[in-house]
Amino acid sequence: MAQGMLQGAEKEVAQGATSGSFKHVLVLGCGHMGGALVSRWGEACSDSYQQAEAVATRLPNLFSIIDRSANAPLGTGSLLPPRFRAYASLNDFVQSDKPMVDALLLAVRPQQVLPALSSLLASDKALLSPSATIMSLAAGLPLPRLRAELNASLTSAPPLFRVMPSIPVAIGEGILLISSDGEEKADDDSSPFALVRELFAPMGRSVFCSDELLDKGTGLWGSAPGYLFQMIEAFAESAHALGYEAEQARILAFQTFRGVGIFAEKQHAEKKLLPEQLVESIALSGGTTEAGLRVLRDKETGLVPLMRKAGELAYQRAQEMEKEMGKEIGAKIEK
Ligand SMILES: NC(=O)c1ccc[n+]([C@@H]2O[C@H](COP(=O)([O-])OP(=O)(O)OC[C@H]3O[C@@H](n4cnc5c(N)ncnc54)[C@H](OP(=O)(O)O)[C@@H]3O)[C@@H](O)[C@H]2O)c1
Repeated sequence: MAQGMLQGAEKEVAQGATSGSFKHVLVLGCGHMGGALVSRWGEACSDSYQQAEAVATRLPNLFSIIDRSANAPLGTGSLLPPRFRAYASLNDFVQSDKPMVDALLLAVRPQQVLPALSSLLASDKALLSPSATIMSLAAGLPLPRLRAELNASLTSAPPLFRVMPSIPVAIGEGILLISSDGEEKADDDSSPFALVRELFAPMGRSVFCSDELLDKGTGLWGSAPGYLFQMIEAFAESAHALGYEAEQARILAFQTFRGVGIFAEKQHAEKKLLPEQLVESIALSGGTTEAGLRVLRDKETGLVPLMRKAGELAYQRAQEMEKEMGKEIGAKIEK
């Protein structure tokens, strides 16, 4: 459509768009992770965030969110921030006559991704702009599988990304592993890589890596919040067993993890201290920390072999899930 022919909401979005950002992002699925991202984008669009962070608005002008679950953490339409629109189904979105989408985020469960993507691409109405960027959060669904699905339905080859966020994105303190089968071109702030980086900027720290590393890292970084919650629980439990009140023990454990994380990062940034040097700096010979560390540093049973084992098992599970997904989707197609 020629620029001069834009109408209504479409005109509003196109005119208001800032350079270096997507204009209209469609988020499909708003459960735990989709909800965390959406709530952070909501915050990042607010005036108070922009003032506090001293950033110019480089976020999309419109977020459309589709989730069929009554429990989706979106609230009712009237509670949504101004740039956000929520729909209970793809059909409702299609009827809404919103402008074309230039970025699609698939935030449904892994086994729901390919069916959801194929119904979206099969819609009679052109929902995606021809160069729309597609992003998937799904664990265990590699880029070639997603690309094959897109190739089967589209004549163009849209930019494709996988994003593996950790749950603290909800407060802007997450990490995001991002992979793509495209090539990044430097110094182009309207390239898909730059736009994806900008979109996720309010979430924490993004790291671009190969799809293989993203897969392998899922069991480590994506699951890390679960592992650390477990460690917080272990600290609180040990303190409680020593006689601390349960809630007092939890508060001490939360503050310990928070304080140590910030302190370690600062020491590394300012003095280039490595984690092992930080350990040495606190584990004085003959002291209490050194005594406790003997258990945690055991080569066979200590934290390092334990973390490796946990990461390996989680990666193994991701591979099993990928196979299960293949069978499940295959069975649906045969029916
Ligand atoms: N949770 C994490 O910490 C985490 C971390 C990294 C990556 N991820 C990835 O993020 C993705 C989402 O995970 P999640 O934990 O947020 O899942 P979730 O809580 O189950 O959220 C998915 C939501 O999408 C809805 N949905 C599914 N298909 C739909 C469709 N066709 N139309 C409309 N709504 C639909 C679901 O509704 P129903 O319940 O009715 O199906 C549900 O509300 C996954 O692919 C996962 O691998 C999650």
